[in-house]
Amino acid sequence: MKTIIKNGRVIDPAQNIDAILDVVISAGCIESIAAQVQPAADDQVIDATGLLITPGLVDIHVHLRDPGYEYKEDIVSGTRAAAAGGFTSVACMPNTNPSNDNKAITRYMIQKAELEGYANVFPICSITKGQQGDSLVEMGDLKLAGCVGFSDDGLNVEDGAMLRHAMEYAQGFDMPIIAHSEDESIKDGGVMNEGPLSTELGLTGNPWVSEAASVARDIMLAELTGARLHICHISSKRTVELVREAKQRGVRVTCEVTPHHFTLTEEAVRGYEVNAKVGPPLRTAADVAAMKEGLRDGTIDAIATDHAPHHIDDKNMEFVYAAFGMIGLETALPLSLRLVDEGVLSLNEVIACLSCKPANVLRIPRGTLIAGAVADIALINLEHTWEVTRQSIRSRSFNTPFEQQSMKGKAVMTLRAGRVVHKEI
Ligand code: NCD
Ligand code: ZN
Repeated sequence: MKTIIKNGRVIDPAQNIDAILDVVISAGCIESIAAQVQPAADDQVIDATGLLITPGLVDIHVHLRDPGYEYKEDIVSGTRAAAAGGFTSVACMPNTNPSNDNKAITRYMIQKAELEGYANVFPICSITKGQQGDSLVEMGDLKLAGCVGFSDDGLNVEDGAMLRHAMEYAQGFDMPIIAHSEDESIKDGGVMNEGPLSTELGLTGNPWVSEAASVARDIMLAELTGARLHICHISSKRTVELVREAKQRGVRVTCEVTPHHFTLTEEAVRGYEVNAKVGPPLRTAADVAAMKEGLRDGTIDAIATDHAPHHIDDKNMEFVYAAFGMIGLETALPLSLRLVDEGVLSLNEVIACLSCKPANVLRIPRGTLIAGAVADIALINLEHTWEVTRQSIRSRSFNTPFEQQSMKGKAVMTLRAGRVVHKEI
């Protein structure tokens, strides 16, 4: 028995496909993409008339909080949120408890996702043991256990020599270093973007330099070592310029932007809105414009959510004390589709930034519908409007600055290896 998804608009940027076609799935893999396929009597047919058929989306920056912080999210709730957002693969950060610095935890994450999850989980292991910045993890072991990169995300690797050695080892294993680039000494306890608004609100500012200075260092270390460097959640205009220039010089650097950093400015913080408190901070309109320009000219390789669930007890307090981070898996697609309406990216480019391009950054064998690929697929209704409410969100946490906002665009069906894992049609 095969599954045939019929009459959808197939968009597969990796193959340059954009046409009304049928997708044939057999034994969990893509068998073919063709026009007017005739189903056999025992084939399962899914009618995708009026819908997009895209590769299952790939998010290379999520926090699943499992093990250790399951009251915020776990691998089951987090991957359920992923599937509802159209994502079939997520790369999860190691700032769990204990942190993912060893193969037992890496294997636990992969196995739990395989057995109970709704999406594939590709763990990112820490760079330093316990993310303490003191000694390097066993990179070779971790690669064998299935990790796809190394990051101390949430924290900067402050010690430049440590990061240099991490890059040298990572390069030996042909693995990327994934940098949370924020110089802690320049950040200096800042809780929002530094500028007139932080002064007005009486909050300590975190200037763009904390990011750009650290990115400049990281790029030069990548240049010195020849390592692959991926920079997380970029937020400032100056950072885009640094990455653009480094790419022109042939440095092996990639970067990602979150939907919140190309959608919102620091104005979202006004009123001490704790759900708009995020690291790096939301910045100015000029920075948002630079994110869009970076996406447009390809300086920015991927859209990644930095889905960072926090329990209400970690957020419901004075702004200064509230945790940094916001959820993003279920709002990423509609927020990214706004880039099409604004003329920043074409629809194909948005899908590429959410599928094959992030997959390429971490060399995850997903993000395309090419024959033989695992049948991870999203069916997207571009016209479906919905409201962000506690009821409409699957994540265990609800720390989003988009609460009660209207969203346009939704994954109405998601398939993982040919099996339906999310359905609202
Ligand atoms: C993230 C978290 O909560 O783990 N928070 C955030 O504000 N982005 C950490 C991170 O991605 O840096
Ligand atoms: Zn980070």
